[in-house]
Formats: sequence, C-alpha cells, structure tokens
Amino acid sequence: MLVEKNVPLQPYNTFHIVAKAHSLVRVTSEDDVQTVISDPELGPALKFVLGGGSNIVLTGDVKPVVLKVEVMGRRLVEETTRAFIVEAGAGENWHDFVTWTLEQGYPGLENMALIPGTVGASPVQNVGAYGVELQDRFESLDAVDLRNGQMFTLNAAQCAFGYRDSVFKHASSGASEDGSDRQALGLKDRALITRVRFRLPKPWVAVLGYADLDRKMAESGVSAPSPQQIYQWICDIRRTKLPDPQVIGNAGSFFKNPTVTQDQCDDIIAREPKIVHYHLADGSVKLAAGWLIDACGWKGKSVGQAGVYERQALVLVNRGVGTDGNGATGGEVMTLAKAIQTSVYERFGILLEPEPVVV
Ligand code: EPU
Repeated sequence: MLVEKNVPLQPYNTFHIVAKAHSLVRVTSEDDVQTVISDPELGPALKFVLGGGSNIVLTGDVKPVVLKVEVMGRRLVEETTRAFIVEAGAGENWHDFVTWTLEQGYPGLENMALIPGTVGASPVQNVGAYGVELQDRFESLDAVDLRNGQMFTLNAAQCAFGYRDSVFKHASSGASEDGSDRQALGLKDRALITRVRFRLPKPWVAVLGYADLDRKMAESGVSAPSPQQIYQWICDIRRTKLPDPQVIGNAGSFFKNPTVTQDQCDDIIAREPKIVHYHLADGSVKLAAGWLIDACGWKGKSVGQAGVYERQALVLVNRGVGTDGNGATGGEVMTLAKAIQTSVYERFGILLEPEPVVV
C-alpha cells in the first residue's frame, strides 16, 4: 500500500480549489480498505473519503487520511423480464457509466447524463436531474465499514434517500454502537462505498415533462424520443446552462431548492408574485433557489475569485482557473455563499441550505 504525502488536491475537486492532502491512499478494491484499517498508523487515524470531488468545498489542507476511491469495473449483473441490473465500481466516472449503459442497450439513466462526479458519490447525495433521481433507479450498494473493515450491502430503504440526501450525509447519533442498525446510526465518515447496482426497468419509458425537455421536443418535432435522443437533449441543455467544471471550476447547484408550506408560499407570492415554485405531492411547495438568488441581484457578482455564474445563479464558480494565480479559495466561496444566504433570508425569510460538503 502506497501512502502519498502532501498531495495537491486541485485536480481532484471540480471547484479546482488549491489544497493538499497530508496523506492520500488510492483505494482500488475492498482489500485496500482493509489494509488501511489494519495498518497500525492509518487504522486509528481520521479518514476522508474522496470520490470525484464534485460536491465538496475545500477550505484548507485536509488532515484526515484521504482515501481516494478508484474501484473500477462495469457489468450487467442480471437481466430479468422486468429489468436490467447493472453494477459499477465506485471510482467510475458517472457520465461515462451512463454513456456505457446506453451503448450496451440498458436505458434508464439518460436524464442524469453529464452530472459531474463518480458512481460512488451518486448515492451520497441522491443525485438527480430532469425528473429522475438516483433513488428511482437504485438497486443496492456495497460498502466497507471504516471502523472495522466489515463489508456490507444496503438496499434503497437502508440508504434513507431524500432530496439530495441519504444516510451517508448524517452523523451517527450514537444510538447503537454495535453497528447492527446502520440506518438509524447515520454513516457520515463511517462508510466507503465500493460498488453500486442500478435497476433499469423494462420496458423503458421516457421521463419527459420538464420545461427544458418539452422545448427540445417542440423544436425538433420528435414526439416519441429514444433514450439516445433524450441523452443528447440533456447533454445539450446542461452544456448551455451549466459551466463545464473542466473549464470553470464549480460544484453544480450550490444550494438546495428550499421547501415551504403552502401558507408560507402564499405569503411570499403576495409579496413576490413572480416567484418560481412547484407544488409537491405532499402539499408542500418547492421554490427555485436559483430564482431567489437571481432576484436578489447576485448573478455575475464575485467575492475575490469566487463568483455567481452568469447563466444560472444557483451555481457558484471559481473564476481563477487558468489564470496566473491560484484561483478562488474555499474561504472566498464560503464568504460568497454566506452573503447570498443573508440577502435571500433578509428579502424572503428563507434560509438556503448548501448542497456541497464543506471540508
Ligand atoms: N432560475 C432563475 N434564475 C437563475 C436560475 C434559475 O430565474 O439564475 C429559474 C429558472 O428560470 C427556472 C427555475 O429557476 O424557472 C429552476 O431552474 P432550473 O430548471 O435550471 O433548475 P434548478 O432548480 O436550478 C435543479 C437541480 C439541478 C438539476 C436541474 C434539472 C437542485 C438544487 N438543482 O436545478 O441539479 O440539474 O434542476 O433537473 O435541485 C445539482 O444538484 O448540482 C444540479 C445541477
């Protein structure tokens, strides 16, 4: 096992923030995790699991041992009359995996094309886009318990998926220290996901109904799109609206879309008739955070080298990539995020919750 010291993390986070890992170990299998855990020095040390780095803000050098997940492999596990079950190693790039499933004739992930990050990170925040969330296509995952090296498998219920949320984002309440009830425990910093399996239902049914997709259908005149057609449209839409992290550092949507009660929404609409909102099945209302931020005049604004993307106010960007300097610091990103939170709160009475993990 190779322990790399003082490793630059700029290439490993999509914000391209400059920071170092004091120690970094590349994990290519479950055995590698067990080797780390049984090591006299690394075993007891705090650990930080790094996937594609697409949902983190680094605010300084990382002192816990960084476990960079590089478990690879993609395969069809099973085909039944009702579904394809496909599996990918946690280190596989998410978009490449989506592309591969379509090439193999296993459709169902096309609405989630071009989401940055790795397969292993996708269940952590239950990624989603254009009407499909990971939990709608999830079968199960394998992980290693970082306390004792035990391998375990979780189904969807055990992952406790919510909107950009799962058991992996919540810390342990300390309720059951024997590890028997992982769902109640919360698995933040306790599990390293190694493989994820997806259930892609047969027959395939297109998920449409999003304004951007409807527009593509109307423009093209295609009324019964194939999975490949939807994949292409999603890629086009995302390339137009969202910055490519290879070119402009970012972590996708920086804030979650907040949910309010119908009464709160009525109150806001009375003051702000144009507010973009969606009614949810449970009677609550989701507000478009991008609209709230935009309405407060943040589009295009900056704090140091951290800025609000010109074409989508929900995305914070690193304006310094490719310039002579080091680009935005995590501190600048968080100062900008806090200023946005304050101004949205003062105008609308809503506290926006950040999506990425602050490290
Ligand atoms: N809007 C504005 N100004 C802005 C941005 C948005 O007025 O600067 C308005 C838009 O006009 C639209 C509404 O807000 O009416 C919603 O915008 P959009 O359709 O772009 O979607 P979103 O709510 O901003 C969410 C997800 C994205 C996902 C898209 C499509 C969250 C936090 N974000 O964005 O996910 O791709 O829907 O499904 O739920 C991510 O999580 O990183 C991400 C990119």
